[in-house]
Amino acid sequence: MCLFALDKLLASCLLEIERCDNLKKLDVLKSTLFGKNGKVTEIMKELRNLDDSQKHKVGAEVNGLKNCIMEKLNAKFRELEVKELDKRLSSEFVDVSMPSRPEYSGKLHPLTKVEEEVSDILSSYGFVFAEGPDIESEYLNFTALNIPDHHPARTMHDTFYVHKLADEKGRRLLRTHTSPVQIRAMLENGAPCRFFSVGHVYRSDYDATHTPMFTQIEGLMVDQTVGFSHLKWIVSDFLKKFFVVKRMRVRFRPSFFPFTEPSAEVDISYDMRDGKMFFGAGEKWLEVCGCGEVHPNVLKYGNVDPEKYQGIAFGFGLERLASLKYGIPDLRGYFESDESWMSAFGFSHFAR
Ligand code: PHE
Repeated sequence: MCLFALDKLLASCLLEIERCDNLKKLDVLKSTLFGKNGKVTEIMKELRNLDDSQKHKVGAEVNGLKNCIMEKLNAKFRELEVKELDKRLSSEFVDVSMPSRPEYSGKLHPLTKVEEEVSDILSSYGFVFAEGPDIESEYLNFTALNIPDHHPARTMHDTFYVHKLADEKGRRLLRTHTSPVQIRAMLENGAPCRFFSVGHVYRSDYDATHTPMFTQIEGLMVDQTVGFSHLKWIVSDFLKKFFVVKRMRVRFRPSFFPFTEPSAEVDISYDMRDGKMFFGAGEKWLEVCGCGEVHPNVLKYGNVDPEKYQGIAFGFGLERLASLKYGIPDLRGYFESDESWMSAFGFSHFAR
């Protein structure tokens, strides 16, 4: 074996390694040198054929060559690995400070928003939330509210009956108002008490200002000395807070409900300026509430002694309040699940 040839081989290998510019090629090169039939492997094999005197000297040379090439190869591997990593890092760079893509986010239904506003105000007077079922008995929806059988008010309500259901409490029906919750609350908790309820009610009626299902807010307060002055203050203050105005002009008009005596309907005053409604002033009036002192018969049905206790009650339409406050024209939109309607009238969750 010629030592000169070894030197030449070493020089050419080192040059080849030096010129190599990617890891794949370097891998191939490595196997052409150190693989089964690689150049360096072949030389190592040849060592076996040398006689002992040569073996020692040439063996040391070949080993030196092998180590030298190995070292150079490993250094190149490290160099190329770092280079390729750098290349990847710069091509896959993510700018975390970039603004994010606009994302579609759902909106709060105006009725949800208004229900929260109403609940907040009524809770601040110490009223506690009470509930009743949508499918109610004739007894609680009418009889216990001082609307006896064959009373004309029963037909006034355009009731949906659930014909298959009936028992000693009468037929089942879709409640026509939330007032049955008054009876439920009194029977459950006795007097004194302060309750409010928000829930769906049903009447067979459908046009721009009436939907067969809508939402009522009901308030009830029973105590020993509660009377019409409390009712006037609560309703007026509620309206002032709800419409966020310093002064609210309200008008209590005598009216009739079988379950309250005396009864009133409440109007708020407003003014139209540039097609917009402004509440609290002006000469126009809008009805927003029915209310009154709870009829003694109703207290009795609620197991409350009318000789000892008096009650006041009021009812609002939630859609009506929402429409007036947020300028939503047609009641039907509330229940049509129309996306463009929601994006026009819905509220951001941060508006809570
Ligand atoms: N329940 C009545 C209605 O649906 C509203 C009302 C509630 C009136 C409480 C007086 C007191 O029209």
